[in-house]
Amino acid sequence: MIKKDSIDKIFEVSRVEEVIGEFISLKKSGSNFKGLSPFTNEKTPSFMVSPVKQIWKDFSSGKGGNVVAFLMEHEHFNYPDALRYLARKYNIPLEEKKESEEDKRKANEKESLFLVSQFAMNFFKDNLLNKDEGIAIGLSYLKERGFTDNIIKKFVIGYSLDSKKDFFNSAINSGYLKENIEKVGLIINNESKDIIDRFRGRIIFPIRSIAGRVQGFGGRILSNKLKIAKYVNSPESLIYIKSKVLYGIYESKKSIVSEDLCYLVEGYTDVIQMHESGIENVVSSSGTALSIDQIQIIKRFTINVIVLFDADDAGLRAAIRGIDLLLEQGMNVKISVFPDGEDPDSFVRGKLKSEILKFFNENSKDFIQFKTNLLLKDSIDDPVKKSFVIKDIVSSISKIPDPIQQEIFIKRCSESMNVSEEVLFNSLAQENNKNKYRGFKKPILNNALEVIKKPFSDKNSNEEIIFLEKQIINILLHYGGEEAFFDEIFLLSVDSGKIKEESKIVKNKVYEKIFLDLQQDEIELINPLYKELYNILIEFYQTKGEIIIEKLIRNLKPELSQIVSDLLFSVEMYELHNWDKRNVFVKDKRSVVGQLVTETILSLRKNLIDQKIKSLVEDSKQKNNLSKNSDLLTDIINYQNLKKILSKKLNRVI
Ligand code: CTP
Ligand code: MN
Repeated sequence: MIKKDSIDKIFEVSRVEEVIGEFISLKKSGSNFKGLSPFTNEKTPSFMVSPVKQIWKDFSSGKGGNVVAFLMEHEHFNYPDALRYLARKYNIPLEEKKESEEDKRKANEKESLFLVSQFAMNFFKDNLLNKDEGIAIGLSYLKERGFTDNIIKKFVIGYSLDSKKDFFNSAINSGYLKENIEKVGLIINNESKDIIDRFRGRIIFPIRSIAGRVQGFGGRILSNKLKIAKYVNSPESLIYIKSKVLYGIYESKKSIVSEDLCYLVEGYTDVIQMHESGIENVVSSSGTALSIDQIQIIKRFTINVIVLFDADDAGLRAAIRGIDLLLEQGMNVKISVFPDGEDPDSFVRGKLKSEILKFFNENSKDFIQFKTNLLLKDSIDDPVKKSFVIKDIVSSISKIPDPIQQEIFIKRCSESMNVSEEVLFNSLAQENNKNKYRGFKKPILNNALEVIKKPFSDKNSNEEIIFLEKQIINILLHYGGEEAFFDEIFLLSVDSGKIKEESKIVKNKVYEKIFLDLQQDEIELINPLYKELYNILIEFYQTKGEIIIEKLIRNLKPELSQIVSDLLFSVEMYELHNWDKRNVFVKDKRSVVGQLVTETILSLRKNLIDQKIKSLVEDSKQKNNLSKNSDLLTDIINYQNLKKILSKKLNRVI
C-alpha cells in the first residue's frame, strides 16, 4: 500500500509532458505538444498533450486522460505500479512496507506472493554471484554459454544450490510465511514426505511482468546429459498465469516501442542471447502455444511481429498455430525460419547485430510465402495438394479483421499461386461466412463510455439520455463556476386545460442551477462514470467555488480522467469557448450558457419522462388486474401532461 501523502506528492511533481516525452517524441504546437500516436500506426501526429491542464488525448485511438492513465495504457501498469514508476522517476521515497506480523494478514494475497517472489529472485541472484557453489557451477556455465555480466544482471539470472531446503530455510528465517512460499510453488510440500525446494541445482530465470514484478521462475538444469526435465518452471499461481506471461517483456518493451517491432522466440535463452547481440525487442511465450492474452500484451507496444522459430517440426507447428491467432488479432506477421538445426540462440551467437538483422530482413516471409513454401515444398504440380494449400491460406486471410488488407493478400496469393482473384474471393466469402457462423468476432474498439447499467429497455432514448448526461458534465467542466442568466419559465396548468405562462430572468452560478434542478427532480445520472464524475465536480465547486483542471485531473481515476480529457480537447466546445472571435459579449455569453443549461436539463427531463411513460404502458399491457390498471392509466396521463408542459418550455427556449 502506498500512503496517501506519497500519492499526493507524486501527483504534485509529475509533469504529464515529461513522462510521455520518454516514450514519444513530442513537439511544441501552440500551447500543446503534439506527437505520433503510440497506440496506432499513424503517419501524421494526432496525439496531443496539454501541459497547462496536465492531460493528454490521442485522437487516432480515442484514448486520453491524466498522467497515470497514460502509464496504464502505454506501459500496461496497474494503478499502484504506475505510481511507483512516477515515484522512481521523480525520486520520491516510497515506504513500501515489508511483511510485518500485522501486514501479513492485511496485505492482500497477491501482494504477499509478489514479495516472496521478489525475495526469491534476490536470493538466487546472491547464490550465483556470491556463493562458492553458485560461482563454480552456475556462473561458469553461464559464462561458457557466452552470457556477459551485464546481461546476467539485466535479466537477474540466479542459481539455486543443490540442497533440499536451502531456500525454504532462508525464506522462513527472513519472515516469509510457509503458506505463501508454497502458494508460489517455490517449495513442494508432499504430505507424506518432507518439504523440499522446487529449484535445486538449477540456473534460475525470473519471469517478470510488464511492470517488472517477479511472477514466477524457470529453472534450467546445467547438464544436458541428466535424464531429468531440462526445465522446471513455477506452477501457476495467483500471480503467475502462463497464458498471460511473456518472458522478456519487461526488459524488451522499450525497444519494442522504439523499433515498432517485436521478435517472438521460443525460449528463455533465445531472448537473452538476442539481447546479448544487441537486439532488444524480443519476447518468448516460454514453450507454450501463443495465447490471445499474450498477443494483446505485444499489441500494446507494436502491431508488427516477426516470428522466429526453429526449423524443426515442433518449431514449425508452433509457428503455424501462432500465425492465425496473430492475424486474427490484427497484427502484421512475418516469419523467419532458421537454417536447419539452428535456433535463435545458436544462430545469433558470435554474429554482429548488423549481420543478424540482415538475415532477418532477407529471410522474413509473409504468411502466404511461408505457408506456400512449407506446405507445397516440391509438389508445385500436384493439383490436389495445391488446392489444399490455397484453402489453408485463404482461411488465414479470412482471419484478418481489416478488409483492405484481406484484399491485398488475396491479390498476392493469386499472383504467387497462379489462381484467379475471382476464385480466391469466392473462397474468402465462404470462409467469412463460416467465421460468422462460428461466432468469430472481429476485435471491437473498447469504449470507456459504454453504458454499463441499462435500467430501461429502450436503447435509442437511453443513448440520448447518456448524451445529455455527457453534455451536463461538459457544461460543468467548462462553465460550472461562472454566473449565467437563466430564463425561468413557470407554466401553470389552470382550469379548462389551458396553460398559463410566466417568466423571469434570474442570475445564478451554473453548477448551482444544475445541482438544484437535478436534485429537485431526483434525477440520478444513468452512466455510472458520469454519475461519479458529476458528484466529484459538484463537490469541487461546492468546496472551492471553481475548478482548476490541473488539480482536478490528478486525483481522478483513469477512466474518469479519460472522460475529462476527451471533453476538454473536444473541438466543438473549443469553438463555443472562443467567444471573442465570435463577437460575443460577456452579457450575451451569460445568456448563451444559461440557455444551454436550461435546454439540456429540459431535454433530459423529457427523455426520462418518455421512458417512464413507455415502461408504464408496458406494465399496463401485462397486468390483468383492472383496478391496478386504472392507477397505471392515471399515472400515464399525468406524465403525458407533464411532458406537454416540458415540450412547451423547450420550444420556448429553443
Ligand atoms: N521448456 C520448458 N520445459 C521443458 C523444455 C522447454 O518449459 N522441459 C520451455 C522453456 O521456456 C524453454 C523453451 O521451452 O526456454 C524452449 O525450449 P528449449 O529450446 O528446449 O530450451 P532453451 O531455453 O532454448 O534452452 P537451451 O538453449 O539451454 O537448450
Ligand atoms: Mn532453444
